[in-house]
Amino acid sequence: MFAMIINETGGPEVLQYGEIATPEPGPGEVRIRVAYAGVNPADWKNRQGMLAAFRPYVFPYIIGFDAAGVVDKLGPGVSGFNVGDRVFTPTNHGQGGQGSYAQYAIANADRVAHMPSGLSFAQAAALPVAALTAWQGLFDRGELKAGQRALIHGGSGGLGGFAVQFARWAGAHVAATCSTPNVEYLRELGVERVIDYRQESIAEAVAAWAPGGLDYLMDAVGVSTLPHGLDLVRPGGTFVSIPTLTDDGDIPAAAAEGAARGVKRVFSTMTDIGCGPTLTKIGELLVAGHVKLPPLREFALREAAEAHRLIQGGHNRGKIVLKVADL
Ligand SMILES: NC(=O)c1ccc[n+]([C@@H]2O[C@H](COP(=O)([O-])OP(=O)(O)OC[C@H]3O[C@@H](n4cnc5c(N)ncnc54)[C@H](OP(=O)(O)O)[C@@H]3O)[C@@H](O)[C@H]2O)c1
Repeated sequence: MFAMIINETGGPEVLQYGEIATPEPGPGEVRIRVAYAGVNPADWKNRQGMLAAFRPYVFPYIIGFDAAGVVDKLGPGVSGFNVGDRVFTPTNHGQGGQGSYAQYAIANADRVAHMPSGLSFAQAAALPVAALTAWQGLFDRGELKAGQRALIHGGSGGLGGFAVQFARWAGAHVAATCSTPNVEYLRELGVERVIDYRQESIAEAVAAWAPGGLDYLMDAVGVSTLPHGLDLVRPGGTFVSIPTLTDDGDIPAAAAEGAARGVKRVFSTMTDIGCGPTLTKIGELLVAGHVKLPPLREFALREAAEAHRLIQGGHNRGKIVLKVADL
């Protein structure tokens, strides 16, 4: 098969279009013929070797978590899927498997979901990592409730665009930070209080909007870009950080300080294992119109380096996808 392959970690130029053996699905796995691969910030960090603590780098190596496409082959023992099914998934890349910037990708059946009708492959490929991280940080680990006041720091990014909408769908009051060009975008997504971090003080805006302190805070940008987060959250509230690998500060010290202040302090990394049902739920919310898909920018698979330069810039609105094949 053809794929974007790296033979060393480094800058965007290490991504090379080339040929590599087509993977075979093992027990419990499905092979997907990829129509679109989704791009996440984790991909450029992975390309630079920053995930070495979590996974081996064995070259030739394929980057990419998210995929949407068609089931092409079933491994032994797989049920619930048939060859030809349209599916989306974060693949097995998070568990050490090869990535999705390729004509074929492998995923355990527990992390694959059928695409609802009404969703295109490009749209489905934009969902897994960003939407699952938002969902797990809000609900599975953050236990956000209707009526609570929630701030999403980084509302205009891939993850943030889902987080603000999921929180609103759950009945929370939602505030979110973004830069000036994205203020209108976040208003359109239903954010009640958009905080332009370039024009106003986040701490002052939060104090006025949630005088008793936030019930819930999600930091999806990095510790250096936020005022001291624990000062923004009320005792008994929840403060979720999405680990970035680049700007996480001292995590044990932050956890200890949260405990001392009576704030539930969570560091929420996406779990792909068993995520199929959540992905199905997210797909249903999209086609039912409860959640809008953030804007998509599309590149050809061969243009992955250009897509990486864009996402690495740190100010992309919405999601980026790579077109692999017309299916
Ligand atoms: N650990 C995990 O499991 C996991 C999973 C998913 C994502 N993440 C991490 O979470 C972060 C966000 O992911 P993403 O997919 O949303 O990235 P993204 O699509 O690149 O979005 C980043 C957003 O950050 C915003 N931003 C940049 N500087 C900011 C600042 N000072 N204050 C507020 N917002 C700011 C930008 O909005 P403006 O242009 O409006 O400033 C941009 O839209 C990344 O570091 C990613 O690696 C971790």
